Amino acid sequence: MSSAILEEKSKFPIPTGVFSETVTSVHHYTDRLFKFRITRPTSLRFRSGEFIMIGLPNAEKPVFRAYSVASPSWDEELEFYSIKVPDGPLTEHLQKIKEGDTVLLRKKPTGTLVNDALLPGERLWMFSTGTGIAPFASLIRDPETYEKFDEVILTHTCREVAELTYGQKLVSAVRDDPLVGEVAQGLKLYCTTTREDYPFRGRITDLISSGKVFDDLGVPRISPKTDRGMICGSMEMLRDTKALLEGFGLVEGSNSCPNTFVVERAFVD
Ligand code: A2P
Repeated sequence: MSSAILEEKSKFPIPTGVFSETVTSVHHYTDRLFKFRITRPTSLRFRSGEFIMIGLPNAEKPVFRAYSVASPSWDEELEFYSIKVPDGPLTEHLQKIKEGDTVLLRKKPTGTLVNDALLPGERLWMFSTGTGIAPFASLIRDPETYEKFDEVILTHTCREVAELTYGQKLVSAVRDDPLVGEVAQGLKLYCTTTREDYPFRGRITDLISSGKVFDDLGVPRISPKTDRGMICGSMEMLRDTKALLEGFGLVEGSNSCPNTFVVERAFVD
């Protein structure tokens, strides 16, 4: 949908209880992935790692989908990282948004990929595949993450090399950031691909099972004494990674009952 059509369709009344925000920038990484930033409602409070429901003003009853906020809680704008699903009821239109267009937000952010749902530890593992990196894009830009953990390891596995760009650019920006750069010295990024050549290859689950990820990073095997985990990816990836963490003796936590790992999925279309 072009901006003009979006504008025309935005004549639909804004549903009650939602924020109407303006797109400030859009960046396409591949034909499957893009990032966009929007204005932030002054009254919106969220914790880094949470998700929020997003829609477009293109129908009487717009379709809303859960998106992890990829920007940290201190940022004056909101950032999102999205896949483009062919014929996806929301992303089919969302992928065509332009600067100045309107995006709707439901008012209540929520989620379990938050520092509060984990017990303190030494090393935080963030396991992500595809757009599952989004909540971690928020958390690695939040100084609180580094107050709670000495070392933060973000793993990102994608099918192809070009799909790693968002995470790689982000981590170098974090290292240069005046607010978090200094405290983020303990941040490590471990990227792998599964369908294209790259120095590190394979599903993260296989690399954990074989022990290669620990050898590559020069860290010990995961232990409930020192390590904490967060997982975000497809349903299958969540299930398989969760089973591996449980095999190391980690226990799933939640906001009301913090423990040694937490799970969420990228809920798109
Ligand atoms: P693969 O190429 O072997 O399917 P997608 O884009 O389909 O969400 O996949 C993103 C990445 O997650 C791909 O590299 C994919 O590997 C990997 N992946 C898919 N299923 C699993 C799983 N059950 N456990 C770990 N990684 C997975």
